[in-house]
Amino acid sequence: MTGLDRAGRTDTVMGLLGAINSVGRDPRRGGYSRPVFDPSERELREWFVAEATKRGLDVTTDRNGIIWAWWAPASGSLDDAVLTGSHLDSVPGGGEFDGPLGVASALVAVDMLRARGVEPRRALGVVVFPEEEGSRFGVACLGSRLLSGAIDPARALSLKDRDGNTFAEVAAGSGFDPDGFGHDPASVARIGRFVELHVEQGRGLVDLDRPVAIGSSILGHGRWRLSVSGEGNHAGTTLMSDRRDPMVAASQIIVDVRAQARGQRDARATVGRIEAVPGGSNVIASRVDLWLDVRHPDNAVTLGLVESIRARAMTLAAGEGCTATLVEESFSATADFDGALRDWLGEVLPDAPVLATGAGHDAGVLAASVPTAMLFVRNPSGISHSPEEYVEGWDAEAGAEDLATILERLLMQT
Ligand code: GLV
Ligand code: MN
Ligand code: MN
Repeated sequence: MTGLDRAGRTDTVMGLLGAINSVGRDPRRGGYSRPVFDPSERELREWFVAEATKRGLDVTTDRNGIIWAWWAPASGSLDDAVLTGSHLDSVPGGGEFDGPLGVASALVAVDMLRARGVEPRRALGVVVFPEEEGSRFGVACLGSRLLSGAIDPARALSLKDRDGNTFAEVAAGSGFDPDGFGHDPASVARIGRFVELHVEQGRGLVDLDRPVAIGSSILGHGRWRLSVSGEGNHAGTTLMSDRRDPMVAASQIIVDVRAQARGQRDARATVGRIEAVPGGSNVIASRVDLWLDVRHPDNAVTLGLVESIRARAMTLAAGEGCTATLVEESFSATADFDGALRDWLGEVLPDAPVLATGAGHDAGVLAASVPTAMLFVRNPSGISHSPEEYVEGWDAEAGAEDLATILERLLMQT
């Protein structure tokens, strides 16, 4: 290794992120749009491979499109590996840090471990998961779900993006064999522990005035597509009394979603995407699709709330001469991170508060298969999934430092 600074780093987290901060900028929405397997996300994947290779890591991309960068111990064994990393895709018009912060911090942590002279007793893997946001194919954490067997590959391959391209077609266009996607028990079995560092997506650390937190749990959440069908017609020739307009029904349903969620303590329900078909300004829509995101700590409450939203949507649609149907696109139960690992992290980082999060992560999917933990880094704006998401340089470095400390201890455990 050459070019280490006095703290023993080749790069800072912000320096690494600065090298990619022009990739996938979205001038129309603001922020970044980096959908999986689009040119911007592919460029980021290439950036990661180059940075990992520069650090002497052994990089492979598996049949699920997951990139693994390995630092093997002297024995060469990848068993009982310590895994860290995150994702590089974004929501439409997302922030700079959601995903890339965890990837860049992992790379800087590798530099710090090398500078500390660590000779690991077990392998360290830095991982990049594809389609964490589900912003292209609708199902979040698609890569980690495929890896861990949490989604049927046939279903994953048939998912479509907004242009009607299937995941199978897009993946094949990116050089992947569609037949290869699916559960990979051998790769899962290799993971001893997974620690994902992520920008905090709320105000927990701001309010506590701390730079880094340990994650406790992820709120159960899911996505449903609600389709309201009516009668497409002419905006000028159709009398108001003759209309069966799904857009009017949809607007009532959206207001009802908020009312129902407000009536349920700790619930969150969002309609963040709506599409009118065919979508002309002088056309009464024939169908409107809404995407519903519902979250609650108690999975039964989440599913009950969705059922109640569905029932009310049918009534509101009928009132406009329309029909409504609801289809589940994904559901992730509330995930509690491994208690023993979390407590141990608390001993290593005694100043770090323990916080729950309302955001989904690959760590939540992997928590069902392997002991998993998360670190969150302060976000002074408290805002995420928006260009307003932010991290201060000194907090990013503190996060990487804490991650390196955790990884070092895990790598050296006997
Ligand atoms: C992903 O960030 C999600 O919480 O939906
Ligand atoms: Mn994320
Ligand atoms: Mn996100």
